[in-house]
Amino acid sequence: MKILGIETSCDETGASIVQDGVKILSNIVSSSLPLHAKTGGIIPEVAAREQVKAMVPVLDKTLEQSHLGKNDIDAIAVTYGPGLNGSLLVGVETAKTLSYVWNKPLVPINHLVGHVYANWLDNPNPPSFPNLSLIVSGGHTELVLMIGHGKFKWLGGTRDDAAGEAFDKTARLLGLTYPGGPAIQKEAVTGDPESVNLPRPMADSKDYDFSFSGLKTAVVKIVQGNRKIKTNDFAASIQEAIVDSLLKKTLRAAKQYKVGEILLAGGVAANQRLREKAEQTFTGRIIVASPKLSVDNAAMIASAAYFNFKPISWGEVESDPGILI
Ligand code: KG4
Ligand code: ZN
Repeated sequence: MKILGIETSCDETGASIVQDGVKILSNIVSSSLPLHAKTGGIIPEVAAREQVKAMVPVLDKTLEQSHLGKNDIDAIAVTYGPGLNGSLLVGVETAKTLSYVWNKPLVPINHLVGHVYANWLDNPNPPSFPNLSLIVSGGHTELVLMIGHGKFKWLGGTRDDAAGEAFDKTARLLGLTYPGGPAIQKEAVTGDPESVNLPRPMADSKDYDFSFSGLKTAVVKIVQGNRKIKTNDFAASIQEAIVDSLLKKTLRAAKQYKVGEILLAGGVAANQRLREKAEQTFTGRIIVASPKLSVDNAAMIASAAYFNFKPISWGEVESDPGILI
């Protein structure tokens, strides 16, 4: 079965064709990132306007790259939330129109569920159940037990900033460009992660929640205090604090729920240090997609739709910006 996925929840416009949930036949992502780098963050209206312009060319390229025509497509999948509403609407309305005009089934997909399914793509040894999924993106930090396809038990999440947001906000304080995650990672390569003593808020609390606003405040105080710290050392220390906070809870949950597999998902899963430290500290198997498939893309949406094939009438599909997993 060949599914055309569409993803426009944040600043990206993505379309992809995936066969049987695992094989990527084409995958195109157009990003308005350079525009947002100038403003240091995403302006929703600007993102949505760019997506309106990019959507049809991206669809065109996706079909071209796959050498397929509309008759080869069995179904359409689209992200309906969570995300920025203006952005979501671009994808949702496009998918509804295609579903109606092409007369194809339409499957609405939760963006966070989509991130988890990136781990099934082009993976000869796909995840099994139950597994523990850590979903870490620009807007979310969620720890969930995955019991089966589409079956999640939510264990905890951030009480304030998301992990990606922590990278983005602290990077800005350090004068680095948006998005902050890749910028901090790059600086951190040559830095000493123990050079700056930073808090790991809530790392020892008994729940499975996270908190990153205290880290941001600590960084603000240091910057305002004009302490002379080299950017690479500061970046490495921030990265280590975020990675430690994420892994401590994740490893404890893995132990309590006796899972042998941890899935890392979402943009922050692209972080090299998170991958490396997860491998070093977890005795079971760490599964993580390539950095390109960890950040927003439409292939993960098409994959999720294959494994959770519940088409609904195009007239019933609506965006839902605030939905959780
Ligand atoms: O999943 P994603 O592409 O979009 C959302 O759903 O939010 O995640 C974007 C987030 C941004 O906060 C970005 O800074 C972060 O993922 N990110 C990274 C890395 N690449 C992207 N964070 C740390 N290290 C990276 N290499
Ligand atoms: Zn995302």
